[in-house]
Amino acid sequence: MRALRALYISGEPAVCRAAAAFSGPWFQKSSRYCSRATPENRNKTDHSVLRHLTSKIKSTGPISVAEYMREVLTNPVSGYYVNHDMLGPDGDFITSPEISQIFGELLGIWCVSEWMAAGRPKQFQLVEFGPGRGSLMSDILRVFSQLSAPLGGAEMSCHLVEVSPRLSKLQAQCLTGDQSQVSTNEDDPVYRRGTTTTGLPIYWYRRISDVPQGFSIFLAHEFFDALPIHIFQKTEKGWREVMVDVHPETEDKLRFVLLPSATLASSTLLQTDEKRRHVEVCPEGGVLIQQLACRIVEDGGAALIMDYGHDGVKTDTFRGFKAHKIHDVLAEPGTADLTADVDFSYLRRVAGDRVTCIGPISQRAFLKNMGIDTRLQVLLRHCQDPSNQAQLIQGYDILTNPEKMGERFQFFTLLNHRRLTTPETGEGLQKRKGPAPLPVAGFSELCLR
Ligand SMILES: C[S@@+](CC[C@H](N)C(=O)[O-])C[C@H]1O[C@@H](n2cnc3c(N)ncnc32)[C@H](O)[C@@H]1O
Repeated sequence: MRALRALYISGEPAVCRAAAAFSGPWFQKSSRYCSRATPENRNKTDHSVLRHLTSKIKSTGPISVAEYMREVLTNPVSGYYVNHDMLGPDGDFITSPEISQIFGELLGIWCVSEWMAAGRPKQFQLVEFGPGRGSLMSDILRVFSQLSAPLGGAEMSCHLVEVSPRLSKLQAQCLTGDQSQVSTNEDDPVYRRGTTTTGLPIYWYRRISDVPQGFSIFLAHEFFDALPIHIFQKTEKGWREVMVDVHPETEDKLRFVLLPSATLASSTLLQTDEKRRHVEVCPEGGVLIQQLACRIVEDGGAALIMDYGHDGVKTDTFRGFKAHKIHDVLAEPGTADLTADVDFSYLRRVAGDRVTCIGPISQRAFLKNMGIDTRLQVLLRHCQDPSNQAQLIQGYDILTNPEKMGERFQFFTLLNHRRLTTPETGEGLQKRKGPAPLPVAGFSELCLR
């Protein structure tokens, strides 16, 4: 924390965030944070996704929940993420970066702190998965430009992994002020590129394998919970997979069914000593973690995963959200967000011992360790307008209150092992222990596994 305080930026509130946009009280339903605002124009129903799914199921049989989620969320033509701007008062839910600028600012400091702890490598790639509207990256870049002295000399660049062309356009507007170009070559792994308003090169990709190798800090905020899950149920005959089928009596309705025999997924994705009787597994999240672990081992860097989640104890967390309300996951597919809490114990297991995993710890603990109270006081001192002050306080409360996002939202990090070892200096008998590594900002030592 000492290093952090030294980096601390002073400054004024930059933007009025969603805490202000919603006039009503806030509430939390399962995962996802919602307001009581009821957006207009949300009653239009689009049946094309349902038609596509029912004809697919009728021709090839029930599909896994993972396939259902993938089709509903990221189908290149009709996917929910491809066609919606789902964040904010007119969307379906709200996320921390949209609630308060302080969130992104503290993450900016976390990134700089990890870059410094890695020995200030010349190359510094900031990679974000699923950047939504670009608010988190925008707040981080503002911090970077205010910390130009400690960052001086680093060759910095921004890399966004985003499946939605529509959201990538919003992100480009937010981050480059329209100074971005879309690639005309379909085979180009960079489908959009530009320069941020703070002067950094910025690139958009569809998948992590397209992001160049090199020292990187990876950020994933409410990204893993959008990745497809398989669902399994323990029966007297063993584990069986929950599938999505067409309702036998109502053709335009879907229902869950249990397959009578084991699937490849049910025989390969579960732990032999699993104690729960209902389990959700996200293999795409596992593959991504393995890719991140490989990169962190080879190139250095760190990954910070921030999501609603648990440490291998929860069972039934698959939910739909539409217009800030819980929505039946099988109703009107493609018009609502689908999400499942992240199982951090699974991510830790697939990361293996190649990297150090710390967490999960609660958002409240992480932000408090990062100095959110001090940052709030600095912003309040620089802010004369009582309504802006009230918004800052309201945003702080939503982020940290255990009854709101404070406890259920979790932080988890992957680090290169070198990050936490004390280097030796000198040779032979002259060998001496170097200075102890800097503590990992935001995480208490008690959470180290
Ligand atoms: C729940 S939103 C979170 C947005 C933002 N991170 C925030 O917290 O405000 C999920 C984001 O991930 C993107 N996304 C979802 N699935 C993806 C995938 N398979 N590959 C790349 N991006 C994806 C969505 O388009 C969206 O930008």
